[in-house]
Amino acid sequence: VKLAVQADRAKPISNLLTGVFFEDINYAADGGIYAELIQNRDFEYAPGDKEGHDTAWKSTHSWTLQGDHATFTIDTATPIHINNPHYAVLDIKAPGAVLFNTGFDGITIRKGEQYKLSLFTKQTRGKGKLLVQLVSREGKVLAQTNITPSTSGWKRTSAMLVANADAPDARLQLQPLSIGRLQLDMISFFPQKTFKERENGLRADLAQAVADIHPRFIRFPGGCVAHGDGLGNIYHWKNTIGPLEARIPQRNLWGYHQTAGLGYFEYFRYCADIGAEPLPVLSAGVPCQNSGTSATGGGQQGGIPLEQMDAYIQDILDLVEYANGDINTTWGKKRAEAGHPQPFNLKYIGIGNEDLITDIFEQRFTMIYQAVKAKYPGITVIGTVGPFWEGTDYEEGWQLAGKLKVPMVDEHYYVPPGWLIHNQDFYDKYDHSKSKVYLGEYAAHLPGRPNNLETALAEALYLTALERNGDVVSMSSYAPLLAKEGHTQWNPDLIYFNNSEVKPTVGYEVQKLYGLHAGDQYLPAAATLSNNQEAVRKRIAWSVVRDTKTQDLVIKLVNLLPVSVHTTMDLGSIHPTGATAVKTVLQGQPADKNARPVTGSIPLAEVSRMELPAYSFTVIRLKTN
Ligand code: AHR
Repeated sequence: VKLAVQADRAKPISNLLTGVFFEDINYAADGGIYAELIQNRDFEYAPGDKEGHDTAWKSTHSWTLQGDHATFTIDTATPIHINNPHYAVLDIKAPGAVLFNTGFDGITIRKGEQYKLSLFTKQTRGKGKLLVQLVSREGKVLAQTNITPSTSGWKRTSAMLVANADAPDARLQLQPLSIGRLQLDMISFFPQKTFKERENGLRADLAQAVADIHPRFIRFPGGCVAHGDGLGNIYHWKNTIGPLEARIPQRNLWGYHQTAGLGYFEYFRYCADIGAEPLPVLSAGVPCQNSGTSATGGGQQGGIPLEQMDAYIQDILDLVEYANGDINTTWGKKRAEAGHPQPFNLKYIGIGNEDLITDIFEQRFTMIYQAVKAKYPGITVIGTVGPFWEGTDYEEGWQLAGKLKVPMVDEHYYVPPGWLIHNQDFYDKYDHSKSKVYLGEYAAHLPGRPNNLETALAEALYLTALERNGDVVSMSSYAPLLAKEGHTQWNPDLIYFNNSEVKPTVGYEVQKLYGLHAGDQYLPAAATLSNNQEAVRKRIAWSVVRDTKTQDLVIKLVNLLPVSVHTTMDLGSIHPTGATAVKTVLQGQPADKNARPVTGSIPLAEVSRMELPAYSFTVIRLKTN
């Protein structure tokens, strides 16, 4: 391939092109990036959390009483907060019994680390201490403290514990040391070292792995989780802010329980912590497919009743005030009280997710869109057109976007690598008068759904096309992001993990290279191929971008052929400075799941003549100032 860069034809492209899609799927939140180590801390698990109404999913889930002369029951008579009705009651006739929690697949503890215990207690009969111990599977006490339960109504107590040894699957044990009746709720155990040491924070290693992608934005809380699978399952942001005991937990449509401990405040704060634009996606007043598809999904068909739409729209307007309003506004004040007086600078809101474009949808989407536009003209509303293979909804989604002049729409596609290879011109002939595109969910899917070099290179290749069309495609995010081993509802994902390890995929490496080497200008390159057969031509791709802040030039080259490819590169009027360039190469065999990029320095002269290895992604970064 001979490439001649045409700097005089440079065009501006979006500086938000690659971001991340966070959905609470695959235990991404509770048991995942949300650092809480206690499962069912609030005793709010319910059989309806699980498909088929699983009776094991009840208030006592993950909790066991061991020992005699004691009972463990659940009560709802005098809760801490009405949103959190269930709590534990221990009746102790003779001390000895312990109540323990096994966390999410055990509680993983590291020697020397500090852990923050907090719980609400209310002693209604008797008086005495509560011994709290962290105990390994073998019965070794790793840390312990004594607390004095409140005898004057519900009170929160906290204590710091330091672990004296590593343990992969410890449990937290509570042992009343005297007879009587003790009520317990919101029993929480967090590592002190959360990401950026935030209170109620994120697991540091996972949050860092996501931050390392350098995402320009974070979409949350889904996906399907955003609109739910029934009217009763729509994700309402207001239920997820404020004191933890006042939040409203709910069934996660992926078949488990959502505490809402990782809620809108924490999502916004994470975005601010890593310098990513927040991109909340809210239901368009309709759940998934406009219906209540599951027995516990709310039961009602269609959308939010029209007479309730004003209140729903107000919630969306309030979200903008919560994110951006000053501290004297109703909702801005709540943000400040949560610990963030500075605004979160919300600029984008997604309305709808892969919805059927029915009259029910159209009516509600239009109401929300018009209201947000009128009150907050500076906010970009992103509509939805879903997956193109859904046919008419895709077309109708685009028609609606055209009719309403929606500034941006969210497209989704999970496709075989071959589709990405053969459709890399998807946006080349795009009508620039239409809405901009947010490719909100995409991934290359192979049979068996691996995340390997073949899928990753197909995505890298397609991303060169997104950069080429970065004046039309404003944002993109691979989906889904996180998956906990043993609890995965969807493959492939970008980052797999368990309680102690983070396992980035090859696809993750591609996203990270795009995040690290983003540009805000695209420079076309005239290409001459010595073999111009379609099968060859389509498996070699390139893009040249410039980061105008640093004036660095980035050349990305993808070779999906089984043979190496020789390139010559004419940089035209661009004059690199320095004697070297930084070269990163990701290569291997298509089925390779462990390929990792290798970065090194090369003499500048080498950039003009390079050999792209078979099945590889090469990124060259040059200084030009
Ligand atoms: O990414 C997983 C799911 O795929 C999302 O929840 C949904 O939007 C899409 O169908």
